[in-house]
Amino acid sequence: MSVLDVRDLTIQYLTEQGDALLAVEGVSFSLEQGRSLGLVGESGCGKTTVMLSLLRLLPEAGRITRGQILFNGQDLLQISEREMRAIRWNGISMVFQGAMNALNPVRTVESQIIEAIQHPDMKINSQQAVLRAGELLELVGIPAKRGKQYPHQFSGGMKQRAVIAMALACNPSVLIADEPTTALDVMIQAQIIELLETLQKELNLALVIVTHDLGVVAEMCDEVLVMYGGTLAEYANSDTIFNDPRHPYTQRLLRAFPDIAEPGSELASIPGSPPRLDDLPPGCRFQPRCQFGEEQPICVQQRPDSIEIAPGHRTACHLIAELER
Ligand SMILES: Nc1ncnc2c1ncn2[C@@H]1O[C@H](COP(=O)(O)OP(=O)(O)O)[C@@H](O)[C@H]1O
Ligand SMILES: [Mg+2]
Repeated sequence: MSVLDVRDLTIQYLTEQGDALLAVEGVSFSLEQGRSLGLVGESGCGKTTVMLSLLRLLPEAGRITRGQILFNGQDLLQISEREMRAIRWNGISMVFQGAMNALNPVRTVESQIIEAIQHPDMKINSQQAVLRAGELLELVGIPAKRGKQYPHQFSGGMKQRAVIAMALACNPSVLIADEPTTALDVMIQAQIIELLETLQKELNLALVIVTHDLGVVAEMCDEVLVMYGGTLAEYANSDTIFNDPRHPYTQRLLRAFPDIAEPGSELASIPGSPPRLDDLPPGCRFQPRCQFGEEQPICVQQRPDSIEIAPGHRTACHLIAELER
């Protein structure tokens, strides 16, 4: 059974004027223990929104209006906040986007890890907590004694390691890392990815990596979910996404990315920009930028549902649906 099974997830943000913006619509994916999922898509496509909803930590304006989030078969959208607190951090945990820059500057790294350890369900005394904080630091490649230092004494890479340690404090089975390498330089990015890969194997984590770096996904993800404008564009295993991408957006995205196998290949940009939430096209959200859907009435008029074109391979595109028929 999948540890995580998300079905038809739909999320709105309410504006101050009371309008509902459909930030995420009909997103589905699942993940087994010990496997990794890459969530990719341009900035603003709803990646963080989907991940925050898994922890039920959406901002005030956010509402989940449809769908299910099954964690070990239990729908997290049907349980109380008290029950949710027992799952947050020790069932599903997350390294937030930008968290490494949000460490408290006036407290030692160790004390911030201890705070993460002192989850009500962990039942641990303060001496054990110090030991555990040291273990967690060592686990992410930082000598335990450096826990006595303050965040400003840490390099960017070490701060990112420290926030990963915090996310692991309560032994989660699912770890979400939201853009864990953004803002780090290339060498350090590679080290953080290697660390996440090692941790995933050692701890048998179900790992979700949110990124716009397809290189990262190619290197370490078993499954890939490509989002476009709040919707699922394509979802398949990594091999399929990289070797047989079907959705026009996935194809464009791959072409826009410098070929990992072919260094120096041309970087093709995708013309146009993602849809605005307050001005969503009535049909396929990708249609205005699609290389194929230009004058196709169905693409202009009707939102495509995601369909399974092969076992485990889903895509939402009228043209592909037609070809498959
Ligand atoms: N608190 C909020 N209130 C209103 N709109 C929001 C809020 N947070 C995010 N959004 C909007 O939801 C969309 C998805 O954002 P986000 O999930 O952060 O995307 P990503 O992580 O892929 O960059 C964006 O259009 C963004 O402007
Ligand atoms: Mg984000």
